[in-house]
Amino acid sequence: MGSVAPPKAEALMTKFKLRDLDLPNRMVLAPMTRGRGTAAHVPTPMMADYYTARAAGGLLITEGTFISPAAIGWANAPEIYSDAAVAAWKDVTAAVHAAGGRIFCQLWHTGRASHSAFRGDGSLGVAPSAVAIRDGSVHLPDGTKAPYEVPHAMSVAEIQATVGDYVKAATNAMAAGFDGVEIHSANGYLLDEFLQTHTNKRTDEYGAGSLENRFRFLKEVVTAVTGAIPAHRVGVRFSPNGVFNDMGTPDFRAAYTYFAGQLDAFGLAYLHVMDGLAFGFHKLGEPMTLPEFRAVFSGPLIGNCGYTLEAGEAAVAAGDADLIAYGRPWIANPDLPTRFADGLPLNADEGGMATWYTHDAEGYTTYPTAAEAAAAKTEPTVDRAEGPAAAAKVL
Ligand SMILES: Cc1cc2nc3c(=O)[nH]c(=O)nc-3n(C[C@H](O)[C@H](O)[C@H](O)COP(=O)(O)O)c2cc1C
Repeated sequence: MGSVAPPKAEALMTKFKLRDLDLPNRMVLAPMTRGRGTAAHVPTPMMADYYTARAAGGLLITEGTFISPAAIGWANAPEIYSDAAVAAWKDVTAAVHAAGGRIFCQLWHTGRASHSAFRGDGSLGVAPSAVAIRDGSVHLPDGTKAPYEVPHAMSVAEIQATVGDYVKAATNAMAAGFDGVEIHSANGYLLDEFLQTHTNKRTDEYGAGSLENRFRFLKEVVTAVTGAIPAHRVGVRFSPNGVFNDMGTPDFRAAYTYFAGQLDAFGLAYLHVMDGLAFGFHKLGEPMTLPEFRAVFSGPLIGNCGYTLEAGEAAVAAGDADLIAYGRPWIANPDLPTRFADGLPLNADEGGMATWYTHDAEGYTTYPTAAEAAAAKTEPTVDRAEGPAAAAKVL
């Protein structure tokens, strides 16, 4: 009797050369917004602890990090445009490197998912077109919720200025000690909004008239960023199957096949595809799979979304993905690679969503590693709160 021990990861534990970076294993920390920056969006020492505790991952990708004030759309999420943020990120990257890890900064512009309450001047979120997110509500900086606003449709001058914001953010990230950047072009945020006809109703050269036009903004961002920092330190993230933030475009298969094929020419660090359906599926056809991306993108490929140990093993062993990004399983298991390698059971994410985005340590840096949990169990059962006095009473 007794429970069956989890399998031990093998393929996920093999080394991988990510262009010029040597990764000790195939496990990537998926980008996850956790809201532990300051209210002014500056990284905190707690964040250094959180990422350092996960440094055994092959590659860490930070939470979405704002490229400009206009990009802000989440309370206490960090930015990378100010000198104060760059200085604070230096402490995070130094701590991760000292622990033997590698870390990319995810560059984020929240587009139409933002709200005017995030900006002192009351300016609206921006988007390709004035189309609001239909359902759900935006979490405001004061902790209340509000319906999504109709965003401001960007002018060509605004698009071009935003390209400059990405370049500044990318060069700041490298100055802050990051090993590279991931351009967030997924989950219905600004760049993704240009890729999909559901949100892009424009008739100009950035518009819905052709795949080439829809891709133009991302292409200009990738071109400019790879002109400023090495292309092999720049990744891009897509969510072709995703419905999150009210997304989904009828020609998604043709569109993302084209976009991925176009990105191939840049010699990027990787393409990061949320191929799994565990974050919501638009159901506009059969979901896109990693082999479809392999067929058009020759560089390193990261798969993500709902992967278990077994599914990650299978995808790497089959050659469908080079790396697998894990998000939620890593929240309650800072030592996830060790647990996978040794076949150890996982901590449950006890706090669950209730502590995903709160601003203190609870549910963030409070989950023990397997070694810490084992050590705690073998300690003498003295009431530690009462200390030596209690121990004396027992004796
Ligand atoms: C708390 C939380 C925050 C997230 N924040 C981001 C983010 O900032 N950027 C991003 O691209 N994806 C974000 N995601 C999506 C994750 O990167 C990942 O795609 C998703 O959790 C599915 O992978 P999993 O099944 O391994 O958790 C977030 C997910 C969670 C659960």
